[in-house]
Amino acid sequence: MIIAIDGPAASGKGTVARALAAHFRLPHLDTGLLYRAVGAEVLARGLDFSDVPALAGLAAALDVQNLDGEALRTGPVGEAASRVAEIAEVRQALIDLQRDFARQPGGAVLDGRDIGTVIAPEAEVKIFVTASPEARAARRYAELSARGEPVTPQSVLEDILKRDQRDSSRAAAPLLRAVDAELIDNTELDKQASIARALEIVARRT
Ligand code: C5P
Repeated sequence: MIIAIDGPAASGKGTVARALAAHFRLPHLDTGLLYRAVGAEVLARGLDFSDVPALAGLAAALDVQNLDGEALRTGPVGEAASRVAEIAEVRQALIDLQRDFARQPGGAVLDGRDIGTVIAPEAEVKIFVTASPEARAARRYAELSARGEPVTPQSVLEDILKRDQRDSSRAAAPLLRAVDAELIDNTELDKQASIARALEIVARRT
């Protein structure tokens, strides 16, 4: 069983993906971490975001076994991730490892922006998780400020709107709800209710 979970920044798709993976004992890949790892390297090496061959080379050489989720979940790295994710050559370099992960025997859960549309269009279960920009910004603000990042509610909302715009309008694999994806809008739902909704969807689809 492949479970594909997509949605915009800070929608809670990762929470839903982790819960389903634990429930069904499936391996889980947070594909945003791949783009974050490339973005972090671009920042660390001081590369130019227009240096397509260098950025595609970083993506091709990514060591997925050693991704440090904590270090990669910062505001600046998220911004860099969404910039490298616009580049078709970077996306191409990351496709095979995501497809191989999805197609391992026994199945997998993947979350990102293009799992149900590009990486695993054959997935039995597709869920699109979203919430209003204000609800997502409030959650992301709580997360980043708890970690000591110098953010304000307004700056986080602006970043979310900018990320939404960039992720949805890019030519290469834009953020899209697959036609056969079920929607969870969790603007008014807490974590447990979102997970319960996702479990109902899986039960219905399998
Ligand atoms: O989900 P997360 O915020 O960690 O993703 C970081 C960035 O990586 C997103 O803004 C998006 O541009 C990009 N991304 C993508 N395709 C995916 C996962 C993430 O373009 N499958």
